[in-house]
Amino acid sequence: MSYENTYSNEMRPANHDYLPLRWSEVFGNENPIIVEIGFGGGEYLENCARSHPEKNFVGFEVSVTSMKKAQNRVNGLSNVRLVITDARFGMREFFGPKTLEKVVMNFPIPWDKHSQERRRVIVPEFFSTLANVLCDNGTFELTTDVEWYAKQTIETAISNGLFEVSEYAENPDREIKTRYEQKWVKYGRNIYAVTLKKAKHGEVDRLIGGMHEMPHAKCEIDEGKFSNLDGKVFKEGTKVVVVKNVYRSESDSSYIVKLIASDGDFQQHYYLTVQREMEGMKGIESDVWIIKLDSVSNPYRTPAVKWSVQMIANVLRRQ
Ligand SMILES: C[S@@+](CC[C@H](N)C(=O)[O-])C[C@H]1O[C@@H](n2cnc3c(N)ncnc32)[C@H](O)[C@@H]1O
Repeated sequence: MSYENTYSNEMRPANHDYLPLRWSEVFGNENPIIVEIGFGGGEYLENCARSHPEKNFVGFEVSVTSMKKAQNRVNGLSNVRLVITDARFGMREFFGPKTLEKVVMNFPIPWDKHSQERRRVIVPEFFSTLANVLCDNGTFELTTDVEWYAKQTIETAISNGLFEVSEYAENPDREIKTRYEQKWVKYGRNIYAVTLKKAKHGEVDRLIGGMHEMPHAKCEIDEGKFSNLDGKVFKEGTKVVVVKNVYRSESDSSYIVKLIASDGDFQQHYYLTVQREMEGMKGIESDVWIIKLDSVSNPYRTPAVKWSVQMIANVLRRQ
């Protein structure tokens, strides 16, 4: 079962036991879904959700401050869910094929410096994901004050035939103006609005795609080997796992291992617990230890996170 805070619009997909999410269960209806990436203060989501109660809205943000602001705006709107997650990950992992009517981005940061390029949301892989999760004829709308970014977005989208341009407008008079839009209009900057229509369905490889299970390992371990974990880095393909710290409990036979796991550019910080299994009703300590995700952190069970459990077990295992 999944846990949600029923008093807020914020949802935590990591607490759900299956990905992509079953959105009709989340919203309690089959209404079309519109996504906004980088919702900032939440002006767009609030306005659209109020004027379109027959549609559902999902917003992605990485900023906790923006999340709090938007939360206050959409409070009580049952057709809005807000998620704190990198949209590049969330778009691919949380939505199944042909589940979205529209995806919107208002004034994204273009990340124009070479050193920041890896933070860009609009890259070729993004359009592969969009061509999968958008319904037939579904649209992607970008509004920006950066002309080269608008043009580059069009080039990237149409280059492999997955999208076609259905609209390109300079300084359109948009009904809903986000905080950034109001700012740029006030200072006389040009605004560029691009609408792209899905032309062809695309396939995408999801990292999770299925039961979101709790990975664990059981083995006899050699406690002397915990020191071998210090600063250890495991690498395989696009997976990288770094051990940041190991903490030993002062009251029982257990340890906590602090880790960072990366699946390509998607990085997560979390903890594993390593503790002795208890035998029987009297709780006698057995020789077998269990290694599993610690309950205080709840990372997505990506390939790197699952693999980290096996890697830690391999280092600690008694020969
Ligand atoms: C320039 S602000 C625009 C905010 C709002 N859309 C507006 O028009 O006022 C860009 C927003 O995108 C968010 N953002 C940046 N990268 C993101 C990502 N990978 N996933 C989700 N949100 C992201 C930032 O935190 C920031 O709030």
